[in-house]
Amino acid sequence: MSKDLTILAIESSCDDTSAAVLVNRTVQSNIVANQDIHQKYGGVVPELASRAHQANIVPVVDAALKEANIGIMNVDAIAYTQGPGLMGSLLVGSSFSKSLSLAANCPLIPVHHMQAHVMAHFVKDDAMRTPNGPFLCLTVSGGHTQIIRVNAPMEFEVLGETIDDAAGEAFDKAAKILELPYPGGPLIDRYAKEGDPNKFTFSKPKVDGLNFSFSGLKTSILYFLRDAEQSEPGFRKRHLNDICASIQHSIVDVLMQKIEKAVIETGINKVAIAGGVSANSGLRKALEDRSSRLGWDVYIPSFQYCTDNAAMIGIVGHYAFEKGLFGDLSQGSRARMSW
Ligand code: KG4
Ligand code: ZN
Repeated sequence: MSKDLTILAIESSCDDTSAAVLVNRTVQSNIVANQDIHQKYGGVVPELASRAHQANIVPVVDAALKEANIGIMNVDAIAYTQGPGLMGSLLVGSSFSKSLSLAANCPLIPVHHMQAHVMAHFVKDDAMRTPNGPFLCLTVSGGHTQIIRVNAPMEFEVLGETIDDAAGEAFDKAAKILELPYPGGPLIDRYAKEGDPNKFTFSKPKVDGLNFSFSGLKTSILYFLRDAEQSEPGFRKRHLNDICASIQHSIVDVLMQKIEKAVIETGINKVAIAGGVSANSGLRKALEDRSSRLGWDVYIPSFQYCTDNAAMIGIVGHYAFEKGLFGDLSQGSRARMSW
């Protein structure tokens, strides 16, 4: 019998500090420390994020190893997020990972954060089905929106992406206009459940091919609310549920139009979603609808693997280890990173 492959993974690209232990693709622990400090600023403050990572990283890694009941000397490799993300936040994770790999004398694996969101589908988990063969992945996070063709684990082709704001950013900026705290995406989702998605309409972007744009939608929401509030003071608060449902409906509509186009163009009807916005109930429902109406084979990850987490970094670590794709101490962090 071949030896177990144990990966310790560390994620620190934005405002969550996370560590996970995976043994043969099965998650033994996946600890996430959120940073509430940013709420009052209406967005992530990079300097505060890196300081919080510094405070959190040792206890989070320690908790992940303890929960997995694994000593650091039994780890086969340390996988960490190299980019893209906030430079200060990335540096905390990479310096810590490099030092730990020296101390534990084990190899390092630098990981692309967006590839990790997609690869979350390859975590071995009874609650999830793993796609087989080529599939399309709609990756929707706070910083990115992409349609990826995945031919096999670690074999990707970017078919389309946003030319301005990301889907999560569209949710968060709309929430900010509504004076909701950061991150607004989950709150819009919550209020939308009680509202009418067809109550208000906002102008939809017109972008060719499989690329996305969300900045026009944001402006349309801003002007609509400004005018409505002027003619009916208190409009925003009184109609919060319907406004949130209509905003969510518009964003999901933009996403679904493009992924439908991708299905037609590629002839692939296996469709997965990944990234923080894949936790959105409206998006999940829209996909399930395509599954029953159009026969799509739909893959929706468990909640804990949607928003930023280290398990998804660990699964990339697993496949990279098998392929012998290791990094070294000289590898720098990257705020921007190509595929
Ligand atoms: O993937 P992620 O955790 O971090 C990045 O890599 O950016 O995504 C965070 C984004 C935020 O914009 C947040 O508002 C959004 O995901 N988000 C949601 C929901 N949960 C998280 N957006 C809409 N509905 C949700 N339920
Ligand atoms: Zn992310």
